[in-house]
Amino acid sequence: MLPHDRHGRAALCAESASGVRVCFRDGSMRLDGSSGLWNSNLGHGNPVIADAVAEAMRNASYLGSWSYENTRARAAARTLVDMAGPAHYSRVLFSTSGGAANEVAMKLARHYHALRGESDRKFVLGLRDGYHGLTYGAFALTDANLGQRMYGVDRRLVGHVPANDPDRLATVLRALAGKVAAVVVEPVLGTGAVPLTAEYVAALLTTRREHGFLLVADEVSTGYGRIGNAVFETAGWSEPPDVLITSKAMTNGTLAAAAVVVSGPVAAEFTERGAVLGHAETQAGTAVVGAAVVATAAELRRLDAVTKSHRLGRHLDVVLARLVDEHPLVAGSTGAGCLRAVHLARAAGTPMPPNEVEAVVGAIRDAGALVHPGPGCVQLVPALIYTEDELDELVALVSAGITAHGRAR
Ligand SMILES: Cc1ncc(COP(=O)(O)O)c(C=O)c1O
Repeated sequence: MLPHDRHGRAALCAESASGVRVCFRDGSMRLDGSSGLWNSNLGHGNPVIADAVAEAMRNASYLGSWSYENTRARAAARTLVDMAGPAHYSRVLFSTSGGAANEVAMKLARHYHALRGESDRKFVLGLRDGYHGLTYGAFALTDANLGQRMYGVDRRLVGHVPANDPDRLATVLRALAGKVAAVVVEPVLGTGAVPLTAEYVAALLTTRREHGFLLVADEVSTGYGRIGNAVFETAGWSEPPDVLITSKAMTNGTLAAAAVVVSGPVAAEFTERGAVLGHAETQAGTAVVGAAVVATAAELRRLDAVTKSHRLGRHLDVVLARLVDEHPLVAGSTGAGCLRAVHLARAAGTPMPPNEVEAVVGAIRDAGALVHPGPGCVQLVPALIYTEDELDELVALVSAGITAHGRAR
């Protein structure tokens, strides 16, 4: 995703990272306002996770989960089920990226309905502006136009509905009666940081009962305390989803790992019929990943990261409201906890176009902080171990970058 003119530049080539700072090849150090890529929730270089990975690399360098299990993957699966809620969830499928895990969930939903005699239920609904990855199946489910047509992505069995519009959801489900295998949602849409409303979550749960689809929560970004309410944001829903997808912070960003956590009733359809899901990956559920998952969960608890995230979120509410009030180029802020977007407007009040947002991201980098662009916004996704002083520093650097961009125009 890096334009060619930015290749080979020392200032854009990271060399090391520690805590919430990243050091670049040119010697510069920047505050990481993106938690890596929204995945290093506990900061860079956590020593407990590093030691657990090193131990597994020495003693179980490759043990996979394709045709036999390994003890560390078993422990990781137990850890994930315990974190997601053992009263509801019972089984785990390992994968290697958020995109691939979304594809596992789509396969699982279609297979589940076929086992129940509904082979025609193949349609998967996602949300407008939803992001689920760029591998072919996940790319179909990702709404933003990132070249799906050019790449020949097959979207015949995928559709999108607007978030937070219960009426439109009901209309589309009625039109597709008996055909929808799954509805896949992010509890907070990462792109633009848009939380699902309580009313919309209620509509998802009601329509699930009426229409029989599996509700899949893509918690690749929202998981591991990112929103500050619970380890997984869907723990706050009045009824849990059928399938929960996690990745990113599951190993604190250290390894290519993902998991699909499956409810007891859905898993039972497979186990009771002796059905085997047609999915496996060489590098999924390795012993090294298992060790990282268990160590990350232990560190999340030891550092009380969910509580910290909640506190940081309250602090962000205040400092971002001030930024919106005071900065003429900031039109508003959205999001929750430690997943935020600062929406940018041109002086005339129109949303900023993508090339200008990229320029703002560059100006913020020059000011000393790393943030990612979103549609008409920059995204603030700090690690949950930030101090409030570091958070103030981040917002000040973002403000300085936006100001410098405004002056340069
Ligand atoms: C909600 C969500 N799902 C899926 C993905 C895709 O994950 P990956 O880049 O590991 O394929 C992302 C990545 O940002 C994401 O935020």
